[in-house]
Formats: sequence, C-alpha cells, structure tokens
Amino acid sequence: MKHTGVLISFEGIDGSGKSTQAQLLKEYFAERKVTVVFVREPGGTKAAEAIRDVLLHNKNLPMADFTELMLFLAARADLVDKVIEPALRHGRVVIADRFADSTFAYQAYGRGINLKLVKQLNETATRGVKPDLTFLVDLPEREAHQRLKRQKDRMESMGTTFHQSVRLGFRKLAAAEPRRIKVLDGRRREEEIWNEILRITLQFLRRSKIELPEQFWR
Ligand code: ADP
Ligand code: TYD
Repeated sequence: MKHTGVLISFEGIDGSGKSTQAQLLKEYFAERKVTVVFVREPGGTKAAEAIRDVLLHNKNLPMADFTELMLFLAARADLVDKVIEPALRHGRVVIADRFADSTFAYQAYGRGINLKLVKQLNETATRGVKPDLTFLVDLPEREAHQRLKRQKDRMESMGTTFHQSVRLGFRKLAAAEPRRIKVLDGRRREEEIWNEILRITLQFLRRSKIELPEQFWR
C-alpha cells in the first residue's frame, strides 16, 4: 500500500514503561496541534475490543497457543482495516502501543510457534502494513515485574521464564532490523528515555515524506 503517513510503534515486555513513553509522544504532537491517531493493541475497534476481553480479561480461560495467535491477529486485522490503514492513507502519524513485533516476541519467541509462520500470517492479517519506526523499551524481566503492582492479566500472569524468552525475542528482532527498531535502556529515568525518543523521532520525521504544520518545528 502506498501512503504518506507514518506508523510509530512502542514495544517491550509488560511493565517496561513503553505505554508511558507512547503517551508522552502522543502529548508532544497534541501540544503542537498535530492530530495523531493513537492505538493500543489488542483493541481499538469494537471487534478488536471484544477479542481483547477474550484474550486478557479472563484469567482462567485456557486456550491453545495457536488459538491465542489467531485471536491477536484477528484483532489486528480489524484495527488495520478500520483505523490504521485509513489514517496512513490520509497522511497521518499513527502511534501504536504494541504492534506486530509483540506477536513475534510473545507468540513466536514466548510460546514457541514457528517465527516464519507467525510472520507470514501477520503479513496477511495486516496486508503488509509495517511500522516505519519502532521503539523497544528494554528492561530486565525482574525490574519490569516489580513495577507492575496492579493486578496482572492473563498474559502478564505468565511466569518469569516466559517473559525472559519474550525479552530475548524482542532483542533478536531489534538486532535483525536495527534501522527500524531502536533499543532504549528502560532502566533509566522516564525523562532520559523520553529525550532519546524525541531526538530519534524528530530526526526520523525530518527525513520522512510526512507533511507537518510549520508550528510543529518551532
Ligand atoms: P508498560 O506499558 O510497558 O506495561 P507502563 O508505561 O505502564 O509499562 O509502566 C509500568 C509502571 O512503571 C508504571 O507504574 C509507570 O509509572 C512506571 N514507569 C514507567 N517508566 C518508568 C521509568 N523509566 N522508571 C521507573 N518507573 C517507570
Ligand atoms: P496490555 O494490558 O495492553 O498490557 P501492556 O500494558 O503490557 O501493553 O496487555 C497486552 C498483553 O498482550 C501483553 O501481555 C502482551 C500481550 N500480547 C501478545 O501476547 N501478543 C500480541 O500480539 C499483542 C499485541 C499483545
């Protein structure tokens, strides 16, 4: 699909601090009167929110790994079709709190489903929509776990070994695509991480074809 928008995704294990940073970026654009489309996965459309309930809110709903994979992809297919693709076509900035790399890290590296297969199925579900820039907030599993004081959902209730595999998976994905995926040391203070994200984002936007109002750069 040819489009003029940009898709920026935030990735990391649960509790890494990625949602905090995604929100800061969203606010940065809003303060400069630039409309951004913000999405959080799984969810973002009626069907995707219904799938989110099945996936996350039923702590004791056992399901086959492949069922879980297909549900995440089903939710994403609807979000891409109804929200992300139209926004990109209109030249918008789309910020995604998790996208396809989460599926590669959790369902392939975490659950053990073949990565090549997961990538193929994801490609079909997203019609080839890919993030232009991805921030991976990297944090050791133990530290991320300590930060999560709220009640854990079904995925977050998985043990330490699972999240260690997921973290390692994210790092391998980043190593394979260093131009797109920027790894940030999540152990630092919020402001330090944010400064790095802002610097990289502005540099990226200057080089992209996206049209931003003059006031954005002031
Ligand atoms: P995620 O979206 O990756 O699950 P959140 O952004 O929701 O993570 O952050 C998880 C918790 O850690 C929140 O309580 C948040 O306030 C806190 N937090 C976020 N960034 C940092 C940071 N750099 N240092 C310490 N705590 C942080
Ligand atoms: P959420 O409550 O959004 O957590 P977070 O704040 O950490 O993003 O829960 C999303 C959970 O679903 C999280 O544990 C990661 C997991 N997940 C997958 O396993 N595969 C996926 O493709 C996606 C998008 C999320």
